[in-house]
Amino acid sequence: MGWLLLLLFLSLGAVLETLHGFKVGFYLDPAHRVRREMWTLAHAHGTLLALVQIAFACGVQRFAWRSPGRLRLASFLLLDAAVLLPGGFFLGGIGHAEGDPSYGVLLVPVGATLLLVAVALIVLEAWRSSRPTPEAGHPSASKESKR
Ligand code: HEM
Repeated sequence: MGWLLLLLFLSLGAVLETLHGFKVGFYLDPAHRVRREMWTLAHAHGTLLALVQIAFACGVQRFAWRSPGRLRLASFLLLDAAVLLPGGFFLGGIGHAEGDPSYGVLLVPVGATLLLVAVALIVLEAWRSSRPTPEAGHPSASKESKR
């Protein structure tokens, strides 16, 4: 999913580049500056969150997850955020008013909240995994646990 999202949002960057190249009015005219801002944000956030997905996949086996359910939850929230956050920015640039994005932008705070929860979960698991276990950690700890 990370590589797929990266392909999608890099392609959006190429589309924006093309709109610049052909000086397309509905993207570059001052009346549509909200659309340009929203779509640039969609491209940037989508690309970076795709890289976060890939980083998550690379690091997932380094943590001793408390349960498969927690791992699934973190993955699910991270994936939803990678779709809702840039998707909200993109929709916000469609049918926008002069100075305001359209209602699609309301998906952004939802995605941001899911992202924060996912990262907090991952931080907790990383912190837990970095603590020495009685068996692998301090020798006195294992003696105490045998007593
Ligand atoms: C890891 C890869 C990339 C990252 C992290 C990234 C990130 C960003 C960010 C943060 C901006 C906003 C810059 C600003 O407003 O000051 C931006 C703008 C832009 N990016 Fe990318 N980008 C990436 C790859 C690409 C690629 C491959 C293309 C095109 C093929 C592209 C095309 C654009 C364009 C055209 C803009 C300007 C949009 C505008 O202001 O109208 N980007 N990108």
